[in-house]
Amino acid sequence: MTLERIPTGIPGFDEITHGGLIRDRSYLVTGPSGSGKTIFVGQFLVNGIEMYNEPGIMIATEERPQHIREYFSTFGWELERLEDENMLAIVDATSTKIGLPSDEKYIDIRPFDTRSLIDQIINIQDEIGAKRAVLDSTTSIGFAINDVSKFRIELLKISTTLEILGLTSLLTCEVLSTEGDQISRFGVENFVVEGTIVLYYTKTENVRVRGIEIFKLRGSDHSKKIHPFEITENGIVVHPEEEVY
Ligand SMILES: Nc1ncnc2c1ncn2[C@@H]1O[C@H](COP(=O)(O)OP(=O)(O)OP(=O)(O)O)[C@@H](O)[C@H]1O
Ligand SMILES: [Mg+2]
Repeated sequence: MTLERIPTGIPGFDEITHGGLIRDRSYLVTGPSGSGKTIFVGQFLVNGIEMYNEPGIMIATEERPQHIREYFSTFGWELERLEDENMLAIVDATSTKIGLPSDEKYIDIRPFDTRSLIDQIINIQDEIGAKRAVLDSTTSIGFAINDVSKFRIELLKISTTLEILGLTSLLTCEVLSTEGDQISRFGVENFVVEGTIVLYYTKTENVRVRGIEIFKLRGSDHSKKIHPFEITENGIVVHPEEEVY
């Protein structure tokens, strides 16, 4: 049996996964600060809407939605228009956490609670019938829970619920460094997902080089190389024919 694929539309990326991600599964996008995680997951969501007519949900735990709208407009991604068209929902899971009021349509009202987050996603599903979701980032949830074994279970609950709701999801994970093959912050995140994508931002002599690797992809063969990628004015471009190191 071959599993149904979902193209990300990110130039070069679908080639290194041999045809895109497997539909209705959750994936970890892991990398150090500045490696391109937020841009990668945002591009997956925007492409889903604009190229494949698949509505999307963004759960923002680290940046206020207004900040994300402004940031993404620099790549020509007009989130506000997509929200007006009922193709995109952004959940503000940031403001409450830092004690600020929010006038967003979707607000996670408690500092962090899996049940309320899942209820929120179910409500949004009723409204927009999303096919793709993004959670940026799992790391702040890990710190909020502050108990690794509980965090693992809560993350499994979230990823499984997203799958059951028919969502293909990207969950970001912040690592301090990718040196020594550190691919998750708490050492548990990659076990509860179907695949792991690692973004590198490595210093070589006097320049930093961006690289992307499919570290794990259950149910599919994929490139085992680290491929270079660029962040351009239109977002991420992966070079599948080249190797970084
Ligand atoms: N318009 C742009 N053109 C080119 N490069 C850009 C542009 N905007 C951002 N970048 C690059 O992308 C980097 C940030 O990417 P991104 O926000 O996706 O990182 P991140 O992995 O989410 O980081 P963090 O963990 O701190 O949130 C910037 O540091 C910069 O190098
Ligand atoms: Mg980010």
